[in-house]
Amino acid sequence: ASPLTCNATLSDTYSEVNELADIDWENLGFGLLSTDYMYTMKCGRDGNFSKGELRRFGNIELSPSAGVLNYGQGLFEGLKAYRKHDGNILLFRPEENALRMRMGAERMCMPAPTVEQFVEAVKATVLANKRWIPPNGKGSLYIRPLLMGSGAVLGLAPSPEYTFIIYVSPVGNYFKEGVAPIHLVVEHELHRATPGGTGGVKTIGNYAAVLKAQSAAKAKGFSDVLYLDCVHKKYLEEVSSCNIFVVKGNVISTPAIKGTILPGITRKSIIDVARSEGFQVEERLVAVEELLDADEVFCTGTAVVVSPVGSITYRGKRVTYVEGGFGVVAQQLYSVLTRLQMGLIDDKMNWTVE
Ligand code: COI
Repeated sequence: ASPLTCNATLSDTYSEVNELADIDWENLGFGLLSTDYMYTMKCGRDGNFSKGELRRFGNIELSPSAGVLNYGQGLFEGLKAYRKHDGNILLFRPEENALRMRMGAERMCMPAPTVEQFVEAVKATVLANKRWIPPNGKGSLYIRPLLMGSGAVLGLAPSPEYTFIIYVSPVGNYFKEGVAPIHLVVEHELHRATPGGTGGVKTIGNYAAVLKAQSAAKAKGFSDVLYLDCVHKKYLEEVSSCNIFVVKGNVISTPAIKGTILPGITRKSIIDVARSEGFQVEERLVAVEELLDADEVFCTGTAVVVSPVGSITYRGKRVTYVEGGFGVVAQQLYSVLTRLQMGLIDDKMNWTVE
């Protein structure tokens, strides 16, 4: 489908450009590059989202009293589009993001686009910005859907109006280390989530809440922070922006989803890939002590994909896993997942959408 056939109004200046954007594709990091179009769709008091609009990428106007600005009523998603060798474009599991946004919206008292509206809007936004999708093997187009309470409220209450926005940016590796291993520090004072809280949904406040520990860790030379559960302070939860996996022999363990951990789509995909590659995968409570004798540790997320962990520091003790690159297990899983996402191997799971 072209945006011209999708259910969106196009701005007067809409034009599809096939030539690649003129940027340095060799050195993409994970920073915002302004692209051509963004998608917006509004929902009023009737709870229904109306026809969306593709308009030039740019600033948006909000009341200073908007629910999202005052009370944090907002969610975001992240997914990627890849350019195949034959020029076709692949999305990876977009309906999973749509479903996760709907689940989060329920927790945050917001209406959300239907799965169909979400996926169609993603397709329209990607096609409108296709000149920004990196050449095969050079990166991906990161797609950022947002859902926010955009109506004015003063007393604490759900917003009377909601806005759904999608913008995109070409990206390369998430961590400044590139594909080199990252170095984590276990945080035992500050927590990311509490039972009954919002840690299990992708609400914007979860990400503001981790900035303090993350900044302190970075100032000490670490790449990021690994959080523990706030009740026992002994079980692994997740890293600020990604899920965590611990490898011991043929067994790969990851913290179970129980409301305080983000149900990552890459996490879920890696679990399936690992099982199909013959590993035993356990979703359970993973004690921090297990890090001490793990063979390998790696992180997963849409932005980070699969990122090897070089070392973890816990109460001053540093455990090292790999020096220069991927451990063998992380490498194997990364390779299967990324070849699938880029359309280089048969997609038996039906995860990609062309
Ligand atoms: C993603 O992986 O898409 C995320 O949402 C993490 C974000 C902090 C970059």
